[in-house]
Amino acid sequence: MKNRKVFQDLSQLSRFAAEQFITIGKRSIKSNGRFNVALAGGTTPKNLYQLLASEDFKIRIDWEKVFFFFGDERDVSPMSDRSNFRMVNENMLKTLKIPQSNIIRWRTEIIDAAGVAVAYEKTLRTYFELEEGQFPRFDLFLLGMGADGHTASLFPQSGALAESKRIAVSIFVEKLDANRLTLTFPVINNSSNVLFLVAGESKAEALMEVLEGDSNPDKYPSQKVKPTQGKIIWAFDKDAGSLLKKK
Ligand code: 6PG
Repeated sequence: MKNRKVFQDLSQLSRFAAEQFITIGKRSIKSNGRFNVALAGGTTPKNLYQLLASEDFKIRIDWEKVFFFFGDERDVSPMSDRSNFRMVNENMLKTLKIPQSNIIRWRTEIIDAAGVAVAYEKTLRTYFELEEGQFPRFDLFLLGMGADGHTASLFPQSGALAESKRIAVSIFVEKLDANRLTLTFPVINNSSNVLFLVAGESKAEALMEVLEGDSNPDKYPSQKVKPTQGKIIWAFDKDAGSLLKKK
């Protein structure tokens, strides 16, 4: 199927994602003078970030015109080993010497999670020069998917799944016994390009349910990712795609 790409392994998946990043980025810079990308956290995209900072890719785009945002974040210090910002910084931003002004992260040093979300929403409204009721439009929104079908920090049965007005929210996630910070589906679905990166056997069941199962977005929140005026590509390795009927 045209919006599905299967790869032998994580390394090939990551190389494809890196090529997509460069292609979409250069096109965005050419037409708008900059590339606004929302990054995924977790472990799957680590390899992608390392690739983008490698000799093969680092010379292929004008990094000064790339602006990095985070689709979601844990409610921890940016120095914490659980921080998505720290993971991205250590695997890519530091190596590429990205200027601080090009990194727009959740300011989790603000004490309460709700305050972090309000601050991030304000930052995005200002950056994208939004009118009331408008949402940011990312050139590329990178997403991962959990074995439970969550994406960003939009987890099954969460109240955040129905959020239709806010850009950024904080939610307490029972199963993690922790607060999470996440951009909402109206933002994700306003993107020009959404690229899901899914790897590993543990994701096979959820991926089959999300892509080929009955509609049940409260149980499988990744089903709600349907860009209204944008492209979506599901890139996965053969293990994650092992239960799909249609490749
Ligand atoms: C996070 C991510 C989250 C992640 C999925 C998959 O903060 O952890 O944003 O949505 O993409 O949980 O995580 P893995 O790539 O580690 O399997």
